[in-house]
Amino acid sequence: GSTLGGAAARTGRYFGTAVSASKLSDSVYTGILSREFTMITPENEMKMDATEPNQNQFSYANADRIVDQATSQGARLRGHTLAWYSQQPGWMQSMEGTALRQAMLNHITQVAGHYRGKIYAWDVVNEAFADGGSGARRDSNLQRTGDDWIEAAFRAARAADPGAKLCYNDYNTDDWNQAKTQAVYRMVQDFKSRGVPIDCVGFQSHFNSNSPVPSNYRTTLQNFADLGVDVQITELDIEGSGTTQADNFRTVTQACLAVPRCTGMTVWGIRDTDSWRASATPLLFDGNGQKKAAYTAVLDALNNG
Ligand code: G3I
Repeated sequence: GSTLGGAAARTGRYFGTAVSASKLSDSVYTGILSREFTMITPENEMKMDATEPNQNQFSYANADRIVDQATSQGARLRGHTLAWYSQQPGWMQSMEGTALRQAMLNHITQVAGHYRGKIYAWDVVNEAFADGGSGARRDSNLQRTGDDWIEAAFRAARAADPGAKLCYNDYNTDDWNQAKTQAVYRMVQDFKSRGVPIDCVGFQSHFNSNSPVPSNYRTTLQNFADLGVDVQITELDIEGSGTTQADNFRTVTQACLAVPRCTGMTVWGIRDTDSWRASATPLLFDGNGQKKAAYTAVLDALNNG
């Protein structure tokens, strides 16, 4: 294949990117988007603050523009995200207890229901585990509604859109030997054993010199897949430049290709200048939309996979 999406399709996989609705009027951006990518994740437009700015008043205009773009280019969609400690609307940030639990479930029912049938996979719950060595849940207002908030979220999502794959998504879960990775693994194992509806685990994969691609990354993906879930690389970006950056992107791509249940990978933006951390130049296209060495490394890996 001569494009990322085309090359990934050789092995039945997709290649995606995060998309911002505000950039859909940029023809360089949309040109690369429609040429290269077969999966789209709205970067911010499906988050809780965007879709329910006032309680029980839903706002879908920006997200729907991205859905329309996906439809027009024949790409699929990853929904991001139904329940997260961050980017909650103001009215939700101050809620606790039963009222918050009900508001979360209502949010999931409404938003996943609105997009029913249009979403390949939902990041149902995002970033629910703590960093560091504790292996604990991250403290948040959602967590304080009770440990079962995550499974309640997955059950509500399944009821609202039975055709969507339901994923847990997190970062710093790439190194098999980290406590956070082990904790997420045990949750997925528990959910599978008790029949809680979970279909997939997303590995954000935001890498930099402090958090490089771990040597056991492929092992981590395979171990999760062995629990009976699909795995995806959901927000890939790698700080750096030149050959070193290209080598790291190749390693990540080859790890996904080596795991049959790694169904696809998504980069967190198109051009370096589109990135949430633009100074890290962490993406596959430069600010002018030109292909970087990292692009060629990924394309070659996909074509040889
Ligand atoms: O839309 C407003 C705009 O009106 C205002 O003028 C501007 C001023 O700062 O802010 C704009 O909102 C910003 C939004 O991005 C859109 O650009 C928010 O302040 C900013 O916080 C938000 O950042 C996003 C971040 O999530 C928020 O947590 C990034 O774009 C987005 O890339 C990032 O994505 C997250 C994933 O969802 C979860 N995993 C980590 C990843 C990177 O942080």
